[in-house]
Amino acid sequence: METKKWGLVVSVVFIIAALPLVLRVKDPREIQYALIRELLKPSIPKLLPGSSSMRKKEARIFGVSPNLTTCHQSSSPSGFRIYCCPPRSESDEAIIEFQFPDPSSSPLRIRRAAHLVDHNYLTKYNKALSIMKSLPYTDPRSFTRQANLHCLYCTGSYNQKYSNSEFSIHRSWLFFPWHRMMLYFHERILGNLIGDDTFALPFWSWDIPEGMVIPEMYMNASLFHGERDFSHFPPNVVDLDYRNKESGLSPEDQIRTNLALMYRQMVSGAKTMELFMGCPYRLGEAGFCNSPGTIELAPHNTVHDWIGSNSNPSREDMGAFYSAARDPLFYAHHANIDRLWEVWGDIHNEMTIKDPDWLESYFYFYDEKLQLNKIKVGDVLDTTKLGYGYEEVDINPWLNARPKPSVPPEIARPLLKSRHLQHPLQPSNHFARILDGSLTYRVSRPKIGRSKKEKEEEEEVLVVHGIDVQGDMFVKFDVYINVVDETTIGPRFSEFAGTFVHITSGAESVSESNIEAKRKKANLKLGISEILADLKAEGDQDIWVTLLPRSHGCINTTVDGIKIDYLK
Ligand code: C2O
Repeated sequence: METKKWGLVVSVVFIIAALPLVLRVKDPREIQYALIRELLKPSIPKLLPGSSSMRKKEARIFGVSPNLTTCHQSSSPSGFRIYCCPPRSESDEAIIEFQFPDPSSSPLRIRRAAHLVDHNYLTKYNKALSIMKSLPYTDPRSFTRQANLHCLYCTGSYNQKYSNSEFSIHRSWLFFPWHRMMLYFHERILGNLIGDDTFALPFWSWDIPEGMVIPEMYMNASLFHGERDFSHFPPNVVDLDYRNKESGLSPEDQIRTNLALMYRQMVSGAKTMELFMGCPYRLGEAGFCNSPGTIELAPHNTVHDWIGSNSNPSREDMGAFYSAARDPLFYAHHANIDRLWEVWGDIHNEMTIKDPDWLESYFYFYDEKLQLNKIKVGDVLDTTKLGYGYEEVDINPWLNARPKPSVPPEIARPLLKSRHLQHPLQPSNHFARILDGSLTYRVSRPKIGRSKKEKEEEEEVLVVHGIDVQGDMFVKFDVYINVVDETTIGPRFSEFAGTFVHITSGAESVSESNIEAKRKKANLKLGISEILADLKAEGDQDIWVTLLPRSHGCINTTVDGIKIDYLK
């Protein structure tokens, strides 16, 4: 036995020693490395297709998912630490594949507008939530665990599966489907706790005038939450364009601004999939993307910030992702976001993403029976199949809120031209500037005089690229086109192309794993075809683009450049 073993060792050593001669490799270390690589191979699946000849047999992995074994603490650059992992590793749980609810045994749950619910409903919701809040932390249905789900998926608590890259569900096309799943399970757990399988979450319809205050129901009992900005309590009108300070607008003007912003984000600015849904986020380091869709930027981010408490450093709870879901209002806010995803489909010909990297991405959620479900993005595209729907509220009043130019284009254009002749602007494509004041650049348009058909096929998109938010803080800046007077401009006018809004995660860099904490720059993509038409600038070779800082955090933010692109 012993001699056999030694014989084996000797022959292995001989082979290794002889290999350099056979292969004519100068450095024997290279062989060792090659052997190690060979040994490691089967455990690391191929991430991306190679050249076409190699592609045949390699199974390409589609989509992203969290690696449950990697749950770890996160920390911010300032040293703030956060730990949201479950008490027991989910990787030890039995995982089931998600099944649609059986339509014959469970009625459709109808989500109603929060300002229209009745007393009976209120009693039910309050009861369900009190029970949920009383469950121990070891129970995944407990309110704290539910809230921590959001924290887990937004602070980089997990690595991606098959990659050590960060895993995150904001600022990309994962935004809508992930939050839909979270609400789906949350709603069913609540219903189950009071034995009511018709229970549905309410939605906070901040996009219609009647819904533009914090719904009364969230001001009492278990739905009340102390960590909010008390100065925004009813009857204050929500500011969908919130800049971390009060707008000073009258309620009527605030409503007008809100509706105009909604129009931009839902209609003219959201004509392509990517503009609305956010960028394609794929497996691995190279697939990381950071370019949120219109609604995620605002009102989603702005409302988060508007609700959060002004006495907390990052406006916790709603103002920071790690803590946001501790406020019951979070769920009503997201129910409205989820509803708007449906509405967007209705007004843009039911566009949907067919990319398997989106459809096959999956996440994990506990259901009402305490089973851990694996659920794919492709599973949550049909709300009826998921057993819920939304009550009709109004005919989307923002549909008719198309903004008008602040200055008639006939007057604005000569003014802009002469100003430009006096102060020639630098080219815009690459400038790398700090946003410590307003910046105006002349941006040239690669294609002018496109036909109607071309315009329908491809949206003209203004890209503000390489936005670097240094430190994890609230940042908001607006983008305007052909603006004459910066001091009076806002979303109510055609010149407003869109806004970049970044809210704090709380903690997002990673401290206890092999992930390198990396900050990725963001891109802001804005559909501008309709704006150019409204400003009578469709035939112009150049447009003037102004970046207007709207929050203090802009002084720590840099932008690499501005350019025009075309998106299908
Ligand atoms: Cu995941 Cu409203 O945030």
